[in-house]
Amino acid sequence: MFRTFRGGQSGGWRVTSMSPVTGEPLPFMPALSVTDGEAVALPLVPSRNAWRLVGVPSNLRYTERAEKQQLESVQAGLGRLEATSAALIPIRKSAAWWELTQEERRKIFEDRSHHIASSMRFLPAIARQLYHCRDLGEPFDFLTWFEFSPAHASLFEELVGMLRRTEEWSYVERELDVRVVKEVLSA
Ligand code: HEM
Repeated sequence: MFRTFRGGQSGGWRVTSMSPVTGEPLPFMPALSVTDGEAVALPLVPSRNAWRLVGVPSNLRYTERAEKQQLESVQAGLGRLEATSAALIPIRKSAAWWELTQEERRKIFEDRSHHIASSMRFLPAIARQLYHCRDLGEPFDFLTWFEFSPAHASLFEELVGMLRRTEEWSYVERELDVRVVKEVLSA
């Protein structure tokens, strides 16, 4: 139920870059581990050699039926063998965003920013999963995770570049961009 992303000294993914896009960064760590658990274990002491972010997959908030069907017909799941590149992009939106009503947010998210409509063409190359963490008292509202093959790296840059220019993104007050590659164990 809880997915934990831990930046530290070991893990299944090697961190290639950590770019602060907006707001306060997190310290660079060489490795990222991604684990699932039924409960969140509190770190015993805050560590200078690690950071930890937790989120839960949740229900859809904005996606309408036709969009859901369209997404399901083209999207790929996580864990594809060829998808050895990934990005963890934690995002926090501003108080102004959260003060809007659900209807007002949907207007900005889709009617004016076309988050779903414009992102559709990046499927199935980019596999994705959204985790919510606003209600867990975490420093971010969302943890977004994307997996793709190295051949689609520039396609992914195009996608994030496009979304960051939308009206929706004017409400993003903290964003980090952590890029990783799958650790391959050689014999
Ligand atoms: C692969 C292409 C993408 C598709 C098809 C896609 C699709 C979606 C959909 C359908 C939702 C709405 C979920 C709901 O109904 O609650 C959503 C939410 C979200 N997406 Fe994307 N997305 C894509 C790429 C991205 C990227 C690259 C980022 C970050 C740089 C991102 C960040 C977010 C965030 C933060 C939310 C939550 C918005 C909120 O609830 O306020 N997405 N996305």
